[in-house]
Amino acid sequence: MAPDTATKDIVKKYTDIRKYSEELCRPLEIEDYVVQPIVDVSPPKWHLGHTTWFFETFILIPNFPDYQVFDPQYNFVFNSYYETIGARVIRTDRGNLSRPSVSDIYTYRRYVDEHMQAFLQSGFMTESLEPLLELGLNHEQQHQELLMTDIKYILGHNPLFPAYRKELIPQKNSSGNGEIIRFPEGIYEIGFQGEGFCFDNELGRHKVFLNDFEIADQQVTNGEYLEFMESGGYIDFKHWHAEGWDWVKQTHAKSPLYWHYIDGKWMNYNLNGLQEINLNDAVCHISFYEASAFASWKKMRLPTEAEWEAASGRFEWGNRWEWTNSAYLPYPGFKKEAGAVGEYNGKFMVNQMVLRGASIATPPGHSRNTYRNFFQTGLKWQFTGIRLAR
Ligand code: AVJ
Ligand code: FE
Repeated sequence: MAPDTATKDIVKKYTDIRKYSEELCRPLEIEDYVVQPIVDVSPPKWHLGHTTWFFETFILIPNFPDYQVFDPQYNFVFNSYYETIGARVIRTDRGNLSRPSVSDIYTYRRYVDEHMQAFLQSGFMTESLEPLLELGLNHEQQHQELLMTDIKYILGHNPLFPAYRKELIPQKNSSGNGEIIRFPEGIYEIGFQGEGFCFDNELGRHKVFLNDFEIADQQVTNGEYLEFMESGGYIDFKHWHAEGWDWVKQTHAKSPLYWHYIDGKWMNYNLNGLQEINLNDAVCHISFYEASAFASWKKMRLPTEAEWEAASGRFEWGNRWEWTNSAYLPYPGFKKEAGAVGEYNGKFMVNQMVLRGASIATPPGHSRNTYRNFFQTGLKWQFTGIRLAR
């Protein structure tokens, strides 16, 4: 029987998303795939294996009778954090995985892709499995962004500053008119509703009361951030949280990540190599602490995630992830799913801050104004920036 259009669409979507991860790795040399310069950065080969493991573990093994696991050791190597699934390589040791080889991991991808394609066209792929398949695809897309951030870190911390690609990668300016948009106090609704995929942390949609607020129609630029630096932003404790100030002293932070002061000029590593700072670009690669301190220096503040979502129809976003002043917590009515995938988001809802929007590294079709990204307050290797509110 010829596969129907819906099945063809699903196989195509699966295949396209899986290919895109490999596309992102095409400019890499084998050596680039292996290193883990800091604990937050995973080796590219690990991302390629882990996303494959996700489909094997959550879709093929439980639902495709007679499926033979590619390699029983891979569960230990590519399980990221699922306690339900069992023991795993600790995160700090991902860079020790010179084996399985990059070539073994590509073979693993081929093997799982062939089985997934057969599975999707079989009677075993039922409607009830669609949400899990969507989760697997959205998971792969999240790792595509992580691949980009990790590749940038790996190449950008190589003392030779190799470019990711030789062709010029356009850098988007911060768009907007430099205006402040006013919102009246009132009851707003936030959270996902409607058709299509969302992560569990975007549910349920609920009402929030917001006091009147103002929010900038553009992201903070490198030029503005440089003013903060030059006016002693990193020397004056008064703009910083206590934790942030400790962090400044411990990490010797004095600029966004990837900035280098060379021969009297601020240079910036981007995917084209080391280049002079463009003052009109939206500032990128700053921690929550830095975003907060900058806002305080400007006599403003970061928006809450509810303010951001309520206002998001009125400005352009998607260039940098925007730190909010909201702790990453469950929405009212949040439900953890049963089983291992219940560990996907819910267990991280402590000690992290929400980021809204998307970034230039977010894969196409993977953003929504209800999307809740989250990271710890000191991390700056994601494509993170600032939008001000008051
Ligand atoms: C939403 C980006 C914080 O990096 O752990 C990847 C994405 N979840 N695999 C992360 C994710 C499971 C997540 N962030
Ligand atoms: Fe993951």
